[in-house]
Amino acid sequence: SDQSKIRNFCIIAHIDHGKSTLADRFLQKTEVVNDRNFQNQMLDSMDIERERGITIKSQAVTIPFHSKDGNEYELNLVDTPGHVDFSYEVSRAISSCEGALLLIDATQGVEAQTLSNMFMAMEHDLEIIPVINKMDLPSADLERVKHQIEHDLGLDSEMAFPISAKTGLGIDELMEGLVEWIPAPSGERSNPPKALIFDSHYDPYRGVVIHVRMFDGELKEGDEIKFMSNNAEYKVEDVGVFKIGLDKTGKIQAGDVGYFIAGIKNISDVRVGDTVTSKKNPCSEPCEGFREVKPVVFSSIYPIDTNQYQELHTAIDKLKLNDASLIYEKDSSAALGFGFRCGFLGLLHLEVVQARLEREFGLNIVLTSPSVRYRLTNMKGETYYLDNPAEYPDPGSIEKAEEPYIKAAIITPTDYLGNIMTLCMNKRGIQQEMNYLDEKRVEIFYEMPLAEVLFDFYDKLKSISRGYASFDYELHGFKETSLAKLDILLNGEVVDALSQLVFKDNAHERGKSVCKKLKGEIPRQQFKIPIQAAIGNTIVARETISALRKDVTAKCYGGDITRKKKLLEKQKEGKKRMKMVGNVELPQEAFLAVLRTD
Ligand code: GTP
Repeated sequence: SDQSKIRNFCIIAHIDHGKSTLADRFLQKTEVVNDRNFQNQMLDSMDIERERGITIKSQAVTIPFHSKDGNEYELNLVDTPGHVDFSYEVSRAISSCEGALLLIDATQGVEAQTLSNMFMAMEHDLEIIPVINKMDLPSADLERVKHQIEHDLGLDSEMAFPISAKTGLGIDELMEGLVEWIPAPSGERSNPPKALIFDSHYDPYRGVVIHVRMFDGELKEGDEIKFMSNNAEYKVEDVGVFKIGLDKTGKIQAGDVGYFIAGIKNISDVRVGDTVTSKKNPCSEPCEGFREVKPVVFSSIYPIDTNQYQELHTAIDKLKLNDASLIYEKDSSAALGFGFRCGFLGLLHLEVVQARLEREFGLNIVLTSPSVRYRLTNMKGETYYLDNPAEYPDPGSIEKAEEPYIKAAIITPTDYLGNIMTLCMNKRGIQQEMNYLDEKRVEIFYEMPLAEVLFDFYDKLKSISRGYASFDYELHGFKETSLAKLDILLNGEVVDALSQLVFKDNAHERGKSVCKKLKGEIPRQQFKIPIQAAIGNTIVARETISALRKDVTAKCYGGDITRKKKLLEKQKEGKKRMKMVGNVELPQEAFLAVLRTD
């Protein structure tokens, strides 16, 4: 289609401000889906997204739009995730668009990720249209949000569209506005093809599907192409655009967002951020790639059944296609056998990877206690990084230990300021500047150890501020710290997969709480199990799980057979996710539970 009639845009916002709901309204308005096939969160295709009501993956879709100006437009819409862990998805979506709808909840106003997402869109020179959502709610405060748009964001509030993504109010005006304000793409169709890979996924029937934004030229069936980063060559077999599913068109051109399939056998040839061009007539320069992903949490994944190692390997390779931020390498553990050391963008990312490996690939896995990456300097003055507690050296060999810090931005109503400052202090936070955004809202910055915020900071912040405080962070270098390795012994044996590196002053407390947590997580077995926490050779805490006395079914008196059956089935189900460590069965939850402190 005519490039001047294409609009490529994404919807960006703080978490829960209504991106997926707005995408739903666009799809319904333009009749991409009819009412019969419609379901909420249409673009969130993964089970786990629907269950949690959050977007994890950016999702593209092409929608036709008949404007009042008499023209037929083609809108390529990308819905993006809101959670901090997935901001990498947002940055990639932004690179394939000319405009962004910046959604702001009319009852909440500007929040921490409203700002960070706006800056990301600005860096890429996108046209930003502020959209004030949830106007149907009685507590919507249009004037206040307009003031914030001017004052906090520096955007023109006259341009803002008040809407309700839920009721459809203002959606027509918004669609007319976006075709007017967002610039059309301006690629050169007669140039050699130049396509940016912004995502990919593995389809069990069709193999690797590559998602691209065409910047120049065209791609059609039969074209011989190559990837610019590694010169891998393939032939295009199928090409098209995204509807609800893939829609084969035979050709995509400059300005389009679409997909192609090229019988790609070697999955590692595909790199998100790479440029695809023609084999015979290549473009001169690749597209600007993406900033490198920086994993912040590390954990190892092991199959519960050691025979599933190869299957796990294949599954991780395939998952990586659809999750470019996942980093991994081979690993092994005395307690768990062979597996993979992985880097994640946060704990939620880790949980999502775990859930996807289990659901999409049918694997039973355990993950070891997550850790951040420390910087150590040995007595010879050599510096190295360490993220695996199992590799922690003799403490006597360490001259200096440093841990990663973040710079946290928190926006909160002033009522909760005191509680938030106490929370941050307890998390070893160092307060930086503080700005009053208006009489009722304040923005504070803290430098905090990453290890402290990863685990339960976000939940605590939300609960002490009744959901009103918002939070965003970026990495902020390393600071000197004192470390201790906390070992956990079950039945007198150290379980390497449960070891953690912790801040020395907190090690005792941590040991106690971990033992308590494990006591709650590990089911009673036929024998008594002592749980101990140790630092070096010193035991700092101890709990005991008493032995199971009777068969659980005994109390059914053999009378109610179905109940007995159910009970046995339940036990079996529970067993599936257990890993034998020595002679103790450890449930998968135990590995994560040890991190939840309170
Ligand atoms: P993430 O993708 O997880 O960042 O969330 P999101 O920004 O996509 O938000 P989502 O569309 O899932 O909406 C969050 C909640 O707000 C849901 O419960 C929606 O039903 C609700 N919501 C969205 N838009 C409106 C609206 O215009 N009015 C009202 N009353 N509720 C809305």
